[in-house]
Amino acid sequence: MTQEPVYPPPEPYTPNFLRRIRRGLYSWFGLLNEWDFRIPVGALRFMGLNLLLVNEPAAVRQVMVSEVEAFPKHPYMLWILEPLIGRGIFAVNGEEWAQQRRLLDQAFQMAQLQRVMPQMAAACQASLARLEAQVAGDLVAGRSVDADAEMTLVTADVIVRTILSRSLEGAEAEAIFAAFTRYQKRAGRALMLRLLRLPRRRLQGYLARDAAPIRAWLAAAIDARLNAPAAHTPGDLLAALIEARDPETGACFSREQLLDQVCVLFLAGHETSASALGMAVYLLGCFPEVQQRLRAEVLEVLGSRAGAPDRPLGFEDLRQLSYGAAIFNETLRLYPPLSFFSRESQANTELAGSRCPMRALVTISPWVIQRHEQHWSEPNAFRPERFLSDANADDRRWARDAFLPYGLGPRKCPGAAFAQQEALLVLAELVRRFEVLPDPEHEPELVARLTLRSRNGIRVRLRARS
Ligand code: HEM
Repeated sequence: MTQEPVYPPPEPYTPNFLRRIRRGLYSWFGLLNEWDFRIPVGALRFMGLNLLLVNEPAAVRQVMVSEVEAFPKHPYMLWILEPLIGRGIFAVNGEEWAQQRRLLDQAFQMAQLQRVMPQMAAACQASLARLEAQVAGDLVAGRSVDADAEMTLVTADVIVRTILSRSLEGAEAEAIFAAFTRYQKRAGRALMLRLLRLPRRRLQGYLARDAAPIRAWLAAAIDARLNAPAAHTPGDLLAALIEARDPETGACFSREQLLDQVCVLFLAGHETSASALGMAVYLLGCFPEVQQRLRAEVLEVLGSRAGAPDRPLGFEDLRQLSYGAAIFNETLRLYPPLSFFSRESQANTELAGSRCPMRALVTISPWVIQRHEQHWSEPNAFRPERFLSDANADDRRWARDAFLPYGLGPRKCPGAAFAQQEALLVLAELVRRFEVLPDPEHEPELVARLTLRSRNGIRVRLRARS
């Protein structure tokens, strides 16, 4: 049996849903029972609302792929995100979503992965310099560093550099993160309180206070760009969003829609990656043999390609890191940053043999599915080998059928390749420069709100390599 990294074990079964909601006010994992990790579909009715948890892979595909139009995003999602992202792509449905997605896909195509590599590399080098400065001081004092805070900063810096062609550091970064941390906490609670039928407007008013500084900061950056002379505009993701035209209607994003999309990209683009990278660094500290193998792979790739072996890793180098990619996938399996998706059924139907009434709140949870006892062997163990090309047939099957950290179907994350590239770069450069060691006095306390984060940070010790 392989050693299991940290996770909050599910609570024993209780039919008392009110008690589960009370636990869910702190982290939505509180809604789950140990039973949920064994069954194909769970169903219950609470205050007139039908709630379903769908784990069975074929039923998951029915909801997210084959009958996607019959299961749009649940209105609760829009209600808790609207104060922050307005009617940005993440939470809207139907033609409104389809038009935004056509424009966004076009913008992503224009700002190709290879073109954003220099911005990613610059943010990564700035992060290594910050860590080096911190480690030099902390080694003397024997302190560990907060990898979670650093991963939040580097991923926000990457996304701000790629969207707006400028960096994000210091007091500005701190103010934005503080507002977002409060928003996360309150949004998680608002979702639970909405299940108890608290009025939508009151909940949204409560969230708008924390959303306001983030929206105002991004609005100022967009207005500056819209008012700048064309000759002075850089070729970044914001420029691509401004230029994108709907191939079907010729329409482009209005100023308000641009602001909503940039808010989505900033949040979807850095919160998720920060969550995953923080957990990946924690795992590297816990599993020295995995870290050693990654470092060996990085050095081999650098040695086998043209250029000095001490140069920064480039676009082509990252594509050779198959073990690195397996580590990141296994991290996403154990700690999916978006741990649940919620949909609303539009008609009476069936899911894996269970009745699904019209207007049911259908939840699909990568957290549950990716640790489900019927799917994965040793579901709570960290084994990157599951994602290598020579993995056994069972692992290959579940990696195909029960692994959905980026979602599935037409609403699948358009930033998945961006996130993989960024994560490999940050992890590979980190193990090149430092040895990551666990902090024996620290254990992350996982809480699931909008994203999965550690309430007490992720503390590791770093030893600089010569
Ligand atoms: C490890 C990092 C990431 C993870 C785990 C992740 C996960 C996801 C998931 C699960 C969804 C679909 C949610 C649902 O179906 O309800 C999604 C949607 C989305 N993601 Fe990501 N994401 C990541 C990084 C990024 C990045 C880097 C960007 C942008 C640069 C991005 C932009 C978006 C957008 C715009 C959507 C909405 C798509 C739509 O509704 O059509 N994500 N993401």
